[in-house]
Amino acid sequence: MVNKILLIGPPGSGKGTQGIRLSELLGLEHVAIGDLLRAEISSGSELGETIKAKVAAGELVDDDLILGLIETRVEEAAEKGYILDGFPRSVDQAKKGRKLAEPVGARPELVIYFDVPDDIVVERLTARAEIEGREDDNEQTIRHRLALFHETTKPLLEFYEKQGKARTIDATAPVDEVTEKILELMRG
Ligand code: AP5
Repeated sequence: MVNKILLIGPPGSGKGTQGIRLSELLGLEHVAIGDLLRAEISSGSELGETIKAKVAAGELVDDDLILGLIETRVEEAAEKGYILDGFPRSVDQAKKGRKLAEPVGARPELVIYFDVPDDIVVERLTARAEIEGREDDNEQTIRHRLALFHETTKPLLEFYEKQGKARTIDATAPVDEVTEKILELMRG
């Protein structure tokens, strides 16, 4: 079974939900960039202050900072496997990530693309806002995140399809079915 996996998809497509489930089921580390950024913001660190406004507005945080987060984890990830959720978000980030991953054998083996229509995303995230109160889960910011996704992140699908690594799943299916489908793809 492959154990180096990227989860790519629009906001609210279920990457975080599946990342947690898969890491529990398989004992793989779930690296969720958004969670790492939110933890940094909550800590009140200088770095957190720098990125706070961008995350709240649904803008992408600077590549150098994101690459710094990846760099500290890449050797362990090569050794133990990983489920990486939220990186890369652009073809540029993917190319920069490859430079870090290649020398240590940490390149992804499988890329799961979560396919969900925009209206379902808006529905899911406005519902989540009621429960979790994430600052970027208001309708205006959700739509901005979606636009950024289509423009900047979605081209990764073709990027990884050309490498023969991408598989698209129907992420509107119930959570258990989505998990099962990903496990099936991981088994190959
Ligand atoms: P991040 O935290 O990664 O946010 P996101 O990509 O917008 O994703 P979400 O967490 O909103 O959704 P998800 O796909 O994880 O879905 P979830 O499982 O939560 O990033 C936040 C910000 O950080 C970015 O906007 C950016 O500013 C910055 N950032 C992050 N990475 C970066 C990078 N590489 N470069 C630069 N900046 C970066 O599910 C959503 C809801 O739907 C939940 O309520 C869940 O219960 C529900 N749900 C899940 N699956 C299903 C299902 N199958 N059926 C019904 N409901 C479901």
